[in-house]
Amino acid sequence: MNLYKHVSDAINEKLGFAANLEIPRNRDFGDFSTNAAMVGAKIAHKNPRELANEILPKIQELDFVESASIAGPGFINIKIRNDFILKHAEAPKPQKAEKPLVIDMDYGAYNVAKSLHIGHLRTSIVGDTLNRIFKFLGHKTFSWNHIGDWGKPMGLIIAWIERTHPELPYFQDNFDPKTPVDYEIDPTELNNYYPAASAFAKENAEFQARAQEIKAKFQAGHPGYFALYEKFLAISLHTMNNTVQRLNILPFDYDLGERNAAKYLGQVEKILNEKHMIYESDGAMVINTKRDTDTAPMPPYMWRDSRGADTYDSTDLAAVYCRKLTDNPDKIIYFTDLRQSLHFEQLFRTADASGIYPYDKFEHIGYGTINGKDGKPFKTRDGNAAGLDDILDMANDAVSARIAESNKKLDKETIQSIALAAVKFNDLMHDVKSDYVFDTSAITSFEGRTGPYVLYTAVRLNSVLNRATIEPKITDTTINEDERNLLLTVMDFDRTIQTACENRATDMIANYTYNLCQLINSFYHTSPILRDDVDINTQQTRLYIAKLARDTLITATELMGLQIPEKM
Ligand code: ARG
Repeated sequence: MNLYKHVSDAINEKLGFAANLEIPRNRDFGDFSTNAAMVGAKIAHKNPRELANEILPKIQELDFVESASIAGPGFINIKIRNDFILKHAEAPKPQKAEKPLVIDMDYGAYNVAKSLHIGHLRTSIVGDTLNRIFKFLGHKTFSWNHIGDWGKPMGLIIAWIERTHPELPYFQDNFDPKTPVDYEIDPTELNNYYPAASAFAKENAEFQARAQEIKAKFQAGHPGYFALYEKFLAISLHTMNNTVQRLNILPFDYDLGERNAAKYLGQVEKILNEKHMIYESDGAMVINTKRDTDTAPMPPYMWRDSRGADTYDSTDLAAVYCRKLTDNPDKIIYFTDLRQSLHFEQLFRTADASGIYPYDKFEHIGYGTINGKDGKPFKTRDGNAAGLDDILDMANDAVSARIAESNKKLDKETIQSIALAAVKFNDLMHDVKSDYVFDTSAITSFEGRTGPYVLYTAVRLNSVLNRATIEPKITDTTINEDERNLLLTVMDFDRTIQTACENRATDMIANYTYNLCQLINSFYHTSPILRDDVDINTQQTRLYIAKLARDTLITATELMGLQIPEKM
């Protein structure tokens, strides 16, 4: 039961108007507090305190109310009956949405032939958790890994291979794709090509021009470049797949990015031209996105660059068109770094003006930067931008060191799950929009607001439940304060997930989980379960509570994509 909703609905129904229900921070005076007397007083032009006295008996009549009292200017505090709590607390289950939506979610969005970096961490983790939450709440989602596979890096990499392996036949304009070529790209090498090529291009204008020329020819369908591209695409898709597994995120529904979208450019261009939206500016083809109300600069949207090549902008609009045809979504949500906000604002305006997709059904969730202790974007010890794998490896090392220190022995998989939980939970518990400092030592601690603490709590609870030989069931309706608080929090799961979803606030689920774990641990300390000096009825009831708490915790961790080890 969603207790909050139940109590709120019952009060509103009883009084005949809608009041606001709150969960006080301090539960000493009540589990809920309503402003019903204030709202009612406004309607009836009465004094709130007087009206509170009139309303109070009505609230006391409600079957879940243990006691109710008036506080301050007319708030009514309500305490819920213990037997009601015990009877109605239940484990969370997937819900049916009142209005199920079809939602396209664009996250991950890794790049071909460019190694995954720290910037891809939040899009993957936050995107995946929101995807899981939408599904849990009964919506239909499609996740799109909008792969960067059509832009500048393709030209640079092909140009780099041409420079280092000029003997290969791929560079001839009459290359026949059926020609057998004895050439394999070394996957670890591939990661070096892009940084090497872009550094070289900065110093060498000729190479830079060559890369641009190659890119344009590649986009126009050069058979040799395409054959080469297919080779590194295969390697990149494999790497992406490994990352998806390593991060324990749901597999993408579509691994289709810019190249796929480019197929629709012709159709989209036709629509834009019918509306006379494209015009020439300094040799490039652009679209105006300015509105009269704008106070900040709003540059034009780049439809084709001055070399006639497709752009990040144009393929993104084509991707919207493609999604409209494929999924016909009620919403399209993008997860990228905040620094891309302007791009998405322009995309949404252009899609809206062209009639391809309405502005108000788009959403861009921009997240903040992951910084080092110096407050600057996080770098590895050698001063390089951190790769996504580097981050996970560092967390792994930190967990291994802690385990070794405490003389525990845990297998490799367990250490990996703990390290992953450390990284993911830390990411999720921060407000999406703000930057945070990445500190391997803090996030891998087994105490405090961390992933390892959450896993440890779950492992311990699992072990109690696995050891039990008695049946978990309510045989006793007296519950202590810790049991009560724990159950009230279990009954707040549905509301939390709904609010987290509405606000796209993954930190709400992380903080709920941490709070739940703290309550589980106090319950564990004050309310012994499988002990001979505890009577059997209490044992069974406590086991029942432990099971509800465990199931709630498991659901929460699943929504965050954490894996709970057997032991810790
Ligand atoms: N590939 C881009 C990057 O790594 C992100 C793409 C985001 N999605 C989109 N539809 N533009 O920064």
